[in-house]
Amino acid sequence: MKLRSYLIVGVMMAGLMACSDKDKPNVELIQDMMESPSVRAQEYDETFADHAGGAQVPPDHTVPVGFKPYRIGYDPVLAKADKNPFAGNMSDEVLLTGQKYYETNCMVCHGQKGHGDGSISSKMPNKPPALVTDKIKGWADGQIYQVISMGQGTMGSYASHVPQKDRWQVVNYIRHLQKTDQQ
Ligand code: HEC
Repeated sequence: MKLRSYLIVGVMMAGLMACSDKDKPNVELIQDMMESPSVRAQEYDETFADHAGGAQVPPDHTVPVGFKPYRIGYDPVLAKADKNPFAGNMSDEVLLTGQKYYETNCMVCHGQKGHGDGSISSKMPNKPPALVTDKIKGWADGQIYQVISMGQGTMGSYASHVPQKDRWQVVNYIRHLQKTDQQ
């Protein structure tokens, strides 16, 4: 008996739903749920000077909590002295984070193993250098960090791609590639 009444209600509901016209708004039973006050990406908003409702950038000079602006600039001497808080830490946690960012951002040019043979390297007029060379082995961690943060020559900055809190892990991952390099 119970099952039958469920079935009847079910059929009635299906019938009601079938009646709804997709081009017209549904009957709003709980109206708050239908009209969200959120601002959509690309939405015009006259309350902002630039009218870019959903695409506001943070006000100038604001920094996330805990963020230390990179003040070293292109100074290799200062970069050399920049301390790696994860120095020598080759734990899975550190290396897997580094690997994730390396393979997402750097591998296309510098190659999976850091040989400078990434998938787009052959198309580039200025070939990306290998990172497992004696030159980079001899660099201080802070110098690699500097290149990620500021770029170098024809390589742009990856500061917006690799969050500050994960950048040293990429340095350690490059150290790992250097240590395990077969060539
Ligand atoms: C679009 C290609 C490209 C990507 C992606 C890229 N690089 Fe580079 N990288 C280069 C090129 C080209 C150079 C050489 C630039 C120069 O000195 O003119 C370079 C130089 C470097 C150097 C210095 C090497 C040396 O011998 O002087 C390091 C270190 C480095 N990149 C690390 C990274 C890391 C880490 C990432 C990822 C966060 C990355 N690169 C992403 C192209 C790239």
